[in-house]
Amino acid sequence: MFAQTGVFPLNQELLGCELHNCAALEIRMPEVVLYIAASLDGYIATPDGGVKWLAAFENSGEDYGYSTFYESFDAVLMGSRTYQQLPELGEWSFTGKPCWVFSRRPLKVEQPEVTLTTQSPHEVMSELAARNLQRAWLLGGAELVASFRAQGLITEYVVSIIPVILGAGIPLFISPGPTEDLKLVESTPYPSGLVQLRYLPGKDDTDCRL
Ligand SMILES: NC(=O)c1ccc[n+]([C@@H]2O[C@H](COP(=O)([O-])OP(=O)(O)OC[C@H]3O[C@@H](n4cnc5c(N)ncnc54)[C@H](OP(=O)(O)O)[C@@H]3O)[C@@H](O)[C@H]2O)c1
Repeated sequence: MFAQTGVFPLNQELLGCELHNCAALEIRMPEVVLYIAASLDGYIATPDGGVKWLAAFENSGEDYGYSTFYESFDAVLMGSRTYQQLPELGEWSFTGKPCWVFSRRPLKVEQPEVTLTTQSPHEVMSELAARNLQRAWLLGGAELVASFRAQGLITEYVVSIIPVILGAGIPLFISPGPTEDLKLVESTPYPSGLVQLRYLPGKDDTDCRL
């Protein structure tokens, strides 16, 4: 239901009740955008979690549409391993953006924006909906992506294919995982050899605008 309508029932029971015209109580589920970089052979990091291979592309002076994307989301979602690695990669870049870090451990949280959560992706999304947050950046990593895919919550895929073959690493999509048809809505090649692909869930209706 979610994938088709994008509308999320506040509470199953409410939906079932005819008396109160409960449809009006539905809350629009926030969009979840997986915006991530992967090597040509489909890895998001080396086996030890390294992402140094991305540096050459990040420092190329090209922002690959990042600043526009940055203005488009009002919440951030990440797994604990990604969160714990961020300090190595530079400054905290989500000041003022509410951020959920998924962990079953009592991690030390440094930033006021961060909410540490043991809730499921679905539960967290209803929290975002209740706070009227509209569009969340699913930052990663692979384990959290797998959880969101398992619950059919990702509404957009923006994958930057890096012209590097790592040969081994942390796969973007952990298998086994659900099968999903995607529609290509945009593909942008860059002089650096990076190609950014944007897909929406759903069957391609042969109307592919490249
Ligand atoms: N190439 C890119 O653009 C990109 C982007 C992001 C990340 N990365 C890379 O991805 C790697 C991390 O990915 P990862 O897959 O190892 O870890 P991850 O997805 O960042 O974190 C997974 C951890 O989060 C916690 N967690 C809690 N609730 C969860 C839930 N519902 N679903 C999944 N995890 C949950 C679990 O740890 P605890 O409960 O024990 O805390 C789990 O082991 C890093 O090397 C990072 O550099 C690359």
